[in-house]
Amino acid sequence: MTAQLSKKGEAWSARFSEPVSDLVKRYTASVFFDKRLAQVDIQGSLAHAEMLAYQKIISADDYAAIQKGMTQIQGEIASGKFEWLLDLEDVHLNIEKRLTELVGDAGKRLHTGRSRNDQVATDIRLYLRGAIDDISGLLRDLRLALLDLAEQHADTILPGFTHMQVAQPITFGHHVLAYIEMFGRDAERMLDCRKRVNRLPLGAAALAGTTFPIDRERVAKTLGFDDVCRNSLDAVSDRDFAIEFCAAAALVMTHVSRMSEELVIWMSPRIGFIDIADRFCTGSSIMPQKKNPDVPELARGKTGRVNGHLIALLTLMKGQPLAYNKDNQEDKEPLFDTVDTLTDTLRIFADMARGITVKPEAMRAAALQGYATATDLADYLVKKGLPFRDAHEAVAHAVRSCVDRACDLSDLSLEQLRAFSPLIDDDIFQVLTLEGSVAARDHIGGTAPRQVRLAIQHLRQQLG
Ligand code: ARG
Repeated sequence: MTAQLSKKGEAWSARFSEPVSDLVKRYTASVFFDKRLAQVDIQGSLAHAEMLAYQKIISADDYAAIQKGMTQIQGEIASGKFEWLLDLEDVHLNIEKRLTELVGDAGKRLHTGRSRNDQVATDIRLYLRGAIDDISGLLRDLRLALLDLAEQHADTILPGFTHMQVAQPITFGHHVLAYIEMFGRDAERMLDCRKRVNRLPLGAAALAGTTFPIDRERVAKTLGFDDVCRNSLDAVSDRDFAIEFCAAAALVMTHVSRMSEELVIWMSPRIGFIDIADRFCTGSSIMPQKKNPDVPELARGKTGRVNGHLIALLTLMKGQPLAYNKDNQEDKEPLFDTVDTLTDTLRIFADMARGITVKPEAMRAAALQGYATATDLADYLVKKGLPFRDAHEAVAHAVRSCVDRACDLSDLSLEQLRAFSPLIDDDIFQVLTLEGSVAARDHIGGTAPRQVRLAIQHLRQQLG
C-alpha cells in the first residue's frame, strides 16, 4: 500500500499500528518554525511539477491544476487564512495536504520522483540565497553610510590606540575606513558563500535518486540555481552551506561588535568623542541623567547568539552518517535567527551611522595628551642620520622629562629639546603638530587626510 495523506493527516499511516503521543508529535513537528519556508516551498514544487509535466511524467492538466491550487494556497497563506496543522508535521506536508484537498489526484502526483529530503534541502537553499542577497545589500548600505561619515571627518584628528594607550594621532576618517574594509571583506564572503548555496538538491529524492526520467538541469534553470548538486547522498544530507553562511555571519557580527565596543567607549562622558542620536539610546528608570548606548551594547550581546548558532550547526552535522537524518530539522531555527539578527542589526547600524555626531574638540584634546607624536620625533632624528634604536632612546628620555614636567613634547623649547639630541632644529615644531604627524603618513593605507580622501574615492567607485 502506498503512503498517502490520510484524513487525519499522517503521511505514513498505513504502516503504523498506533499513533504517536501528543508530546512526540510536538517534539518531531517543525511546522511552527518551518512554515516560514512556505513561499520557497511552493516555488520549488512548481518548478518540480513543471519539469514532471515537460517530461510527461504527469499530464499537462495535472500541472495546470497544481498551479491553480498553489495560487490559491499562496493567497490563503498571505491573508493568514491557511490553517497550519501540527498533525501534518511540517510545511511540506501541510501544503501538499491542502493542495490535494483543492485539486485532488493532481495534488497527490506532485511528490512523484521527490522526497521531503531533497525538497527541504532545496527550500533552505532558496531561502538562504534570498537572505544572502538582502544581507549583501544591507552591507553595502552600511558601507555607504560609513563612507559619508569618513568623508566628513577626513581631517578630524583623534588619538589612535594600541593596548588602549594613546599611540599615534590618526584621522577619524581613517578609523572609520578600517570598519569599511572589514565590512567589505564580509560582503565578499557572503558572495562567495552564495556560490555554494546556489546549487539544486532536487532530484536526489530520498537519497539515491529516482527511477523517473527527470531533468534536474531544467529545474535548476527554472529556480535560478547555477548548477545541480552532483551526488544525491551529499545533496540531501550536508548542510555545510548553512554552516558557511553562519560563519560569515559570525564574522559580520564580530566586526559590528568591535565597532559597538568603540561606540560605547566613545560615548562615555569620560571620553566624549561622539554622541549617538537619541533614537538609538534609552534612559534609565532610576537615574534621570542617563542616556545609554543600548543599540551598540545589544549588538555586542547578540554577537554571542550568532556565534552560538554557528557552533550549534557544526555540532549538529559532525556525527551524522550519510544520508539524511532527522537531526537536520534542527538546522532551521539557528539559521533563521542568524538571518534575522544579522538583517536587523545591519539595517539599524546603517541608520545609526548617520546618527553619529563627532566631537572634534574632544578628540583633538585627547590626541594632545599621551605624547602621540613621540614616534614622529624619533622618525625626525632618523631622517637626520641617527639609527632608529638610538632615536627611540633619545625620545624616551624626552618623554620621561615631559612626564616629570607635566607637559607635552611640543611644549619644550628648542633648547630643552636639543638636550636630548643636538640634531634637533627649529623645523621640529611642525613635525610635532598633530596635523604634521598625520599628513606625513602619506602612502596607500596611511592615515594622511589625502590618503583618506583617495581611499574614499576608490571605494565609492567600487560600490558604484
Ligand atoms: N521537516 C523535515 C526537515 O526539516 C523535512 C524532511 C523530513 N524528512 C524525513 N525523512 N523525515 O528536515
